[in-house]
Amino acid sequence: MTANVRPETMQRITNFELANAFIEEQVAAVRAQVGNKKVLLALSGGVDSSVVAALLIKAIGKQLTCVHVNHGLMRKGESEQVIEVFGKELDANLVYVDATDRFLNLLEGVSDPEKKRKIIGKEFIEVFVDEARKLEGVEFLGQGTIYPDILESIKQAEGKKAIKSHHNVGGLPEDLKFELVEPLKFLYKDEVRVVGEALGLPHAMVYRQPFPGPGLGVRCLGAITRDRLHALREADAILRDEFAKAGLAEKVWQFFIAIPDIKSVGVKDDSRYMGWPAVIRAVNTKDAMTATIEEIPYAILHKIVARITAEVEGINRVLYDLTPKPTGTIEWE
Ligand code: XMP
Repeated sequence: MTANVRPETMQRITNFELANAFIEEQVAAVRAQVGNKKVLLALSGGVDSSVVAALLIKAIGKQLTCVHVNHGLMRKGESEQVIEVFGKELDANLVYVDATDRFLNLLEGVSDPEKKRKIIGKEFIEVFVDEARKLEGVEFLGQGTIYPDILESIKQAEGKKAIKSHHNVGGLPEDLKFELVEPLKFLYKDEVRVVGEALGLPHAMVYRQPFPGPGLGVRCLGAITRDRLHALREADAILRDEFAKAGLAEKVWQFFIAIPDIKSVGVKDDSRYMGWPAVIRAVNTKDAMTATIEEIPYAILHKIVARITAEVEGINRVLYDLTPKPTGTIEWE
C-alpha cells in the first residue's frame, strides 16, 4: 500500500516552475521504466488522459500508441479536438476508432441507466482490446490515474456504497497483461492542470469540465435514438458556447443538457408540432457528493432558450433544473 501513498515531501505543484521540474523528473522515470519498449494508452480526451498522453509523448515519442475510441456519445467537436491536438500538433501515434455504430446498435431499445452504463463500459473495453491485439510487442499500459482515484479505490475497498456504478472501463482480459505506467498518480486535479498547461496543451482541454465515461449516453434519457442524440449534442454545444461567452464556463463546475424521452406540443410556423424538452443542468460542488445549482442570470437563460429552440431541430421547450443534490443527482440517469 505504501507505493500508493503520496510522499509527504512532495511539494504541491502550483506554478510552471514546479510543473516543469515534475515533468523532467517523470520523463526520466518513464524512460527508465519503459526503456525502448512500447506503451499503449486509451485517450478519451479528458483532462487526465490528455495530460498523461502529452507527458508520455514527451518522454517516449512514437513508442507510445494512443487509442481514441469515439463511442458516438462524445460532445460536439471533442473527437476532432483529440485528432487535432494529438494526431496533428503533437504528432503522436494516434489510432482513431469511430465505433459509433457498434455502440448505438447495442444500445438500441435499452432504457435502464445501469444497463446502458454496463453496455458502454463493456463495449469500450472490447473495442480497445480489438485495437490492442492489432499492435505488436506492447508491454506497458499508460493510465491517467490521479491521486483522488487512488483515494477513492481505497474508500471503495473499505466498503463504502456507491449510489450509481461509475465504472467506465472494466479490466482487460487475462492474456493482455500490461505493466502500468501512471506518472500522475500522486497529483491532485489542480496540479494535473498546471502540468498540462506546462506541457503546452490547450487551456480549454486542461480546464475541461468533468464528463462522465458513458458520455451523452446518460443524458439522452431512456432508450437512445440517433435523432434525439443529435439534438442533445447540438443543444449542449449551444449551452457551452453561451456559457463561454458569459464567462461562466470555468466558474461553474459542471453544466450540460439532458433530454428526456418525452414530447410535448409546441407551435412553429402556425402549426402544432411535437418536440422534446431540453433540460439545463448547471451545478457547483466540491466533491460531487452534494451539489448546489448555479443561478444563471435570466438574460443568459433567455438567450440560450431562444438559440436552442431556433437552431435545434426537434426541441420546442427548454427547462431549467433548480434541484440541488440531494435530492437530485447531478446527472439525470
Ligand atoms: P451523480 O449523477 O451521481 O454524478 O450525482 C456525480 C458525478 O459523477 C459523474 N458521473 C459519472 N462519471 N461515469 C463517470 O465517469 C459514470 O457512469 C458517471 N455517472 C455520473 C457526473 O457527471 C458527476 O460529475
